Amino acid sequence: MTSAPILSTSHLLGIEHLSVAEITGLLDLAETYAVLNRAQNKKTDVLKGRTLINMFFESSTRTQSSFELAGKRLGADVMNMSVKTSSVSKGETLIDTATTLNAMRPDILVVRHQDSGAAELLARKLDCCVVNAGDGSHEHPTQALLDALTIRRRGRAFEGLIVAICGDVAHSRVARSNIHLLLKMGARVRLVAPRTLLPADADRFGCEIHHDMKSGLAGADIVMMLRLQLERMSGAFVPSTREYFHFYGLDHKKLAYAKPGALVMHPGPMNRGVEIDSAVADDIEVSLIQEQVEMGVAIRMAVLDALARGLASGGRNAP
Ligand code: NCD
Repeated sequence: MTSAPILSTSHLLGIEHLSVAEITGLLDLAETYAVLNRAQNKKTDVLKGRTLINMFFESSTRTQSSFELAGKRLGADVMNMSVKTSSVSKGETLIDTATTLNAMRPDILVVRHQDSGAAELLARKLDCCVVNAGDGSHEHPTQALLDALTIRRRGRAFEGLIVAICGDVAHSRVARSNIHLLLKMGARVRLVAPRTLLPADADRFGCEIHHDMKSGLAGADIVMMLRLQLERMSGAFVPSTREYFHFYGLDHKKLAYAKPGALVMHPGPMNRGVEIDSAVADDIEVSLIQEQVEMGVAIRMAVLDALARGLASGGRNAP
């Protein structure tokens, strides 16, 4: 395996400013890690001697555990900061907490925070690589990359691919990162949601907008479902979850509007019976949900490897 640089910056803050070559480079590298992750010995020493800190201010199952596994499989020392028991609960600010951790000389800091722009702020203040693991409703770059890897591994080309992103787009950083990535790669993106769950400037994203599942899913190759992010809603955005499921919940009947052979994705966590029916989520003929989780580890290994290459070639923490 060569160790040519992939990323032109020392952080991964979003998809918006990545080039097609950078995205493709990360996907290609992740393919090799997907193979390694299925082998008996899953370890390499690409990050040997390096320290990775996970700093999650919002709950996470998939993202945090896959960054932890990714770091460990690459040979790094990994520390998960437990925000609930840290001094954050005593009122310490994000910057003070991060500066304290920075003094312990980590090489890479993975951060999830409820405020849009938090990762970028840290990247400006700290002298280690920063990876955005989700900032408010702004971006979640590794989710979009793992989704792209999952699609590509099913043999689907991005050029002309029709992807319907359905549900709570307004509050979704997953949707934003996926829109950037899919449009850059030549896919056609549809947003399917009631008006209340679309951002006010949705018509400027370069996507087709649909307010009903029948027209939104017609001819779609990929149906990507999003969770109703109730924790980011200040009032009632939908009349009731029952009614929401009736109009926007994905069941086999609505999936039949899509192209025959269409595949279903969901970043998790799922709310079964709200945005997706269990019969679809658990149908291995159509659902890519478990594969997305598997590819999450591979993509995070590729991102950490790519950032470490920058460090080794004269980045700020170069020896
Ligand atoms: C998403 C997130 O946190 O943005 N989850 C994830 O990382 N897999 C989506 C969500 O919370 O609904």
